[in-house]
Amino acid sequence: MQAGSLVWIPGAGQIPDFPSRPYSMCAAQESGAMAIIEWNSTLSVNIQQFDRQHMKLVDMINKLHEGIRASNANEVLGEIINDLARYTTTHFADEEQIMATYQYPDIAAHKAEHMEFSQQVRKLELEFRAGQTIVPLGVMIFLKNWLVSHIQVCDKKLGIYLKEKGL
Ligand SMILES: [Fe+2]
Ligand SMILES: [Fe+2]
Repeated sequence: MQAGSLVWIPGAGQIPDFPSRPYSMCAAQESGAMAIIEWNSTLSVNIQQFDRQHMKLVDMINKLHEGIRASNANEVLGEIINDLARYTTTHFADEEQIMATYQYPDIAAHKAEHMEFSQQVRKLELEFRAGQTIVPLGVMIFLKNWLVSHIQVCDKKLGIYLKEKGL
């Protein structure tokens, strides 16, 4: 799959505003596989707990994308989005707790990025509860790009700091 060749969802309307970020290296490695994010070592932050959680998040984004491609029912997509919202909350809380414990100096900026993603997922969750049946292409691209670039930049930086602190 080429970068940007996500399935267009008819009736999705305008692509909403989303922060522009550099396209990840992962995009160039995409093949014809269904997954839009392939896990590889560039996504490792060298903290086992977080790598495991990130793998699960990657899996959830891929599941959402597969659900859209397969035209899954509204309830199925809604359930995937609920799971993503719940797991995101857990993962961000774990990272933020460890940042506080280890007095990570960039905690405010890191938390602000988490908030950005959480708000987008929450918005999508509420829209589905209100009867929306599609995931706009722009939202799907945002979720994917945010996750990859956040892990590769912010979480990696945190991982290096935590290793220096002996974790
Ligand atoms: Fe993070
Ligand atoms: Fe993370």
